Amino acid sequence: MVMSKVWKLVRRPEGMPAAEDFALEQEELPPCGEGDIVTEALVLSVDPYLRYRARGLPLGSVMFGSQVARVIESKNSAWKVGSLMVHYQGWRTHTLITSKSLSAPSGENFGMQPLPDMEGLSNSLGLGILGMPGNTAYFGFLEICQPKAGETVLVNGAAGAVGSAVVQIAKIKGCKVVAFAGSDEKVAWVKELGADHCFNYKTTDVGKALTEAAPEGINCYFDNVGGQFTAEALPHMAEFGRISVCGAISTYNDDQRNIGPVGTRSPFNEGTVIWKQLRIEGFLVFRWDNRWLEGINQMKRWIIEGKLKYKETVSKGFENIPKAFIGLFHGENIGKAVVTV
Ligand SMILES: NC(=O)c1ccc[n+]([C@@H]2O[C@H](COP(=O)([O-])OP(=O)(O)OC[C@H]3O[C@@H](n4cnc5c(N)ncnc54)[C@H](OP(=O)(O)O)[C@@H]3O)[C@@H](O)[C@H]2O)c1
Repeated sequence: MVMSKVWKLVRRPEGMPAAEDFALEQEELPPCGEGDIVTEALVLSVDPYLRYRARGLPLGSVMFGSQVARVIESKNSAWKVGSLMVHYQGWRTHTLITSKSLSAPSGENFGMQPLPDMEGLSNSLGLGILGMPGNTAYFGFLEICQPKAGETVLVNGAAGAVGSAVVQIAKIKGCKVVAFAGSDEKVAWVKELGADHCFNYKTTDVGKALTEAAPEGINCYFDNVGGQFTAEALPHMAEFGRISVCGAISTYNDDQRNIGPVGTRSPFNEGTVIWKQLRIEGFLVFRWDNRWLEGINQMKRWIIEGKLKYKETVSKGFENIPKAFIGLFHGENIGKAVVTV
C-alpha cells in the first residue's frame, strides 16, 4: 500500500491565488496493475500557466503540474524501477501511472517522457532550462521570431525561466537585446547574461526606455507578460516585426480575461499592427513535441560550452508548493521556481 501526499484545489482563486485555495491531504494509491508504474516525486515544478488551470479544474481535484519522479514499482517493461521521468500528474508525492496513460499519445499526457540524460547536470533542470521552459524559449523564440544577427529583440519577464533563456539565445544569434524584469537584482543578473539594456519595469517608463534603448525599432518581441506592457511596447516595433506571444502573466489573475470571446480590450492597436505589417503569433510549446530532444540537446550543449547560464529558485518541502506557486505572481523567483520533496 502506497500513501501519497497531495495538494488539492479546494477553492476557486479570485485574483491573486491564496494559500486557502489549496489543501494538503493524504491519499492511498490503487494497487499497481499490469502495465502500470508507481513513481515517487523528487522535484516539482510551479509554473504560471497553472493559474489558468485553476480556473477550470474541478474543485477537490489534485492540482495539475509537472515533476521529476523516480519509478519505485513497475509492471511495465518499458519503465524500469529506478528510472527517472518527467510527468504531469500533479502536485503529489507518489503517483500510480496506468498503462493506458503511459501509452497515450504525447498530446494527451502533456509530454510525459523519460528524463533526458542530464550529463551530470542537476535533475531539476528537466523542469527548467532542459525541459518545458527551455524548449519554450528555444522553439518559441527561434521558430516564431526567426531572429537575424544584428536585429533588435525585446524580452520581458527576462529574469524568469523562459525569459532568461531567450535573452541568451538572442545573444548567441548575434542580436541586440533590450530586456525588462521586476527588480534591480534581476536587472543586474539579466545584464550579466548579456542583455545590452535591461530595465526594472516597476520603476521605469517602458515607452521612454524603449525610445532610448531601441530607437531603430524592435524586430522581435518575445512576450511573457502581455497587457499594458504590450500596449506600451507595440508602437516601438519596427516594420515587419515579429511578436512571439508566449505568455501574459500580467493578465492571469484577471478572471475577466479568458480564452474565447469574453475579454477586455486588446492591448494590440490594430492600426499599428497593420501599418507596421507585424506578425503576431501565439504558441504552445507542445507544438514541437516531435522535436523535443533537439531543443533540450542544443540547450544542454550551450550550457556545457558556457554559453547558457541559468538560475533556480529552490523551495524545500512538498508542503511549500502553494507558497512557491503564489510567489511567481509576486516576482519572488529568479530563474526557474522548483520545489524539492
Ligand atoms: N506558450 C507556452 O507554451 C509557454 C510555456 C511556458 C511558459 N509560458 C509563459 O511564459 C511566461 C514566463 O514563464 P516562466 O515559467 O518563465 O515564469 P517565470 O518568469 O519564471 O515566473 C514568473 C515571473 O513573472 C513575473 N511577473 C509576475 N507577475 C507579473 C506582472 N503582473 N507583470 C509582469 N511580470 C510579472 C515575475 O518576475 P518580475 O519580478 O520580473 O515581475 C515572476 O518572477 C509566463 O507567462 C508563462 O505562462 C508559456
